[in-house]
Amino acid sequence: MKKIINIHVNGQDYELAVEPNKTLVDLLRTDLGLTGTKKGCELGDCGSCTVIMDGKTINSCLVLAVQANNSRIQTIEGLQTEAGLHPLQQAFVEKGAIQCGFCSSGMILSSKNLLDRNPNPSEQEIREAVSGNLCRCTGYQKIVDAVADVGNKKK
Ligand code: FES
Ligand code: FES
Repeated sequence: MKKIINIHVNGQDYELAVEPNKTLVDLLRTDLGLTGTKKGCELGDCGSCTVIMDGKTINSCLVLAVQANNSRIQTIEGLQTEAGLHPLQQAFVEKGAIQCGFCSSGMILSSKNLLDRNPNPSEQEIREAVSGNLCRCTGYQKIVDAVADVGNKKK
């Protein structure tokens, strides 16, 4: 039997009827059409499904939609501003930190969450912040450079 949940996603309120076993990643991708959140391992290992929930990064494949009732979610679609790309999105493009792009939304959200707490992180702090996000393409250095670049601009 479906349950009614209220959820705030990227600045918008939704009231949705969801199956008790539906994961948050499936709710975001199928019910709300927010396919920027990727689904890789569905085991909590790859980080491609990372979103920010009530100020913390989470693997949305490990959270049931009903557990997200009354929470505030930010996905990659919520980062873009009226002025255009978020500075992190822009830096990832400029530094070549995106290749296939499958990890990028999770990487960027983990990085944003770090910069919100620590505007000018060290390389080590950046590496720790994205340690739950796997990338098979870039070798990570360009990702670290992109995040550091945004941090430096905030100095
Ligand atoms: Fe969620 Fe891999 S799909 S951690
Ligand atoms: Fe391909 Fe990271 S850019 S997995």
